[in-house]
Amino acid sequence: MFSRYKKQPSAQPVETPPPAAAPATAPAETANTTAVARKPIKKKVAEVVGNDKERKRKERLGEIKLELHRELLENLNLAALEKADEAELRTEISAISSEVLEARNIVLNREDRTQLNKELYDEVTGLGPLETLLQDDTVNDILVNGPQQIFVERSGKLEISDITFKDEKHLMRIIDKIVSAVGRRVDESNPYVDARLADGSRFNAMVPPIAVDGSLVSIRKFKKDKLGIDDLVNFGAFTEEMAAYLQAAVSTRLNIIVSGGTGSGKTTTLNALSSFIDDAERILTIEDTAELQLQQTHVGRMESRPPNVEGKGEVSPRDCLKNALRMRPDRIIVGETRGAEVIDMLQAMNTGHDGSMTTIHANSARDGISRLENMIAMAGIEMPIKAVRSQISSAVNLLVQASRLQDGSRRMTSITEITGMEGDVISMQEIFKFQRVGLTPDNKIIGHFTATGVRSHYSERFRLWGFDLPSSIYDPTTM
Ligand SMILES: Nc1ncnc2c1ncn2[C@@H]1O[C@H](COP(=O)(O)OP(=O)(O)O)[C@@H](O)[C@H]1O
Ligand SMILES: [Mg+2]
Repeated sequence: MFSRYKKQPSAQPVETPPPAAAPATAPAETANTTAVARKPIKKKVAEVVGNDKERKRKERLGEIKLELHRELLENLNLAALEKADEAELRTEISAISSEVLEARNIVLNREDRTQLNKELYDEVTGLGPLETLLQDDTVNDILVNGPQQIFVERSGKLEISDITFKDEKHLMRIIDKIVSAVGRRVDESNPYVDARLADGSRFNAMVPPIAVDGSLVSIRKFKKDKLGIDDLVNFGAFTEEMAAYLQAAVSTRLNIIVSGGTGSGKTTTLNALSSFIDDAERILTIEDTAELQLQQTHVGRMESRPPNVEGKGEVSPRDCLKNALRMRPDRIIVGETRGAEVIDMLQAMNTGHDGSMTTIHANSARDGISRLENMIAMAGIEMPIKAVRSQISSAVNLLVQASRLQDGSRRMTSITEITGMEGDVISMQEIFKFQRVGLTPDNKIIGHFTATGVRSHYSERFRLWGFDLPSSIYDPTTM
């Protein structure tokens, strides 16, 4: 039963993180140089973008491409295009482009020609310049700030890419293509839109005049393989001991809220936690954008729907949740709680759907509680604050904090239990936390995970359910 925590703490000491003494040397070093040593200011983006000659070449290619694109649209039978297979279409595009280049007396080397044909193909069938980034598996997020600036996120770090759009019109055309494919519209009177791409990636766009310097686009790419518990332990997101604790918490059906900022790894954590759910249980998931990838057999997935262009047809997360309660779930997982559905979520947690989970946007466990209180107030529920808090404290057992630290690493910075009420206040106890101790010269965070020394409020429950955690797990000196 107790499969996670295999290490015998006495026989085999748990791997110890760098001792707290390490950072003590860093300040000593700076003290030796000058009294006030400022760090060099980071390079401006423009200096990194590339040299002039390369840019001119790109510009020229861009102009040729635009011209060719117009030509292609005139010459290709767009209706037939949908049925054409890829090889056929590529041949066709390359034939037309050769013709045009020849007619205009433009000579390109083989590399540029291949590149040009690829870009034309992407323009005609896909999302133009974005296509390369969408296909690049190392890219997690794509952030477009107007036509000339595209940033990408790779392993937690933002970097500028050398890909650009020709101009705002070009960018708008691609945005239009994306949103019209999902039956939405974006224009001056409807300046922003949230949508899901065919591959599951999440797409958001905001266009001028609300976006001042050109359209803003953000794409969170759909990860085909979500990170599992073992991956996260290997990446240092949390420790094996914390994983063992979380396994006990999920298996014994504690109600869990994962809290964190945008992109902090909430969904990833929720997904990983769900792997501890027994395969025999019926799980219903509710999300804005279906991202979770549960491994269990018995899973019913729901995706809420925003209103359409005419403002009709909305199916809110709350609608889904209300209906889910009539569908005999063992557990309910709500991708993110951000509105009125909080009422039904807490009710579900309180009324027999133990082991339910969700995420919220908050910066700490305490902040998470205030968020819940705010959401309840915003939903128009008039209840004395004490009643609201007692509702929260009896519904939620555990708050898990996900954070994206300044060096781009994502860590579970705190695991906190809710233990009840003391007067008007919800009482909580932290069990594990990430202890930050310093910064390396190249700005990597130094720190380690530690138990706080507080024994779980649920230890007896864990034991009764067969997840008897050794007491060393709560010992701050063994981690
Ligand atoms: N511990 C981690 N180590 C590395 N990458 C991670 C980690 N946790 C999450 N990620 C990646 O970070 C990105 C954002 O994670 P996600 O769970 O979608 O965040 P959120 O739901 O908080 O917005 C994803 O690409 C995900 O794969
Ligand atoms: Mg998320």
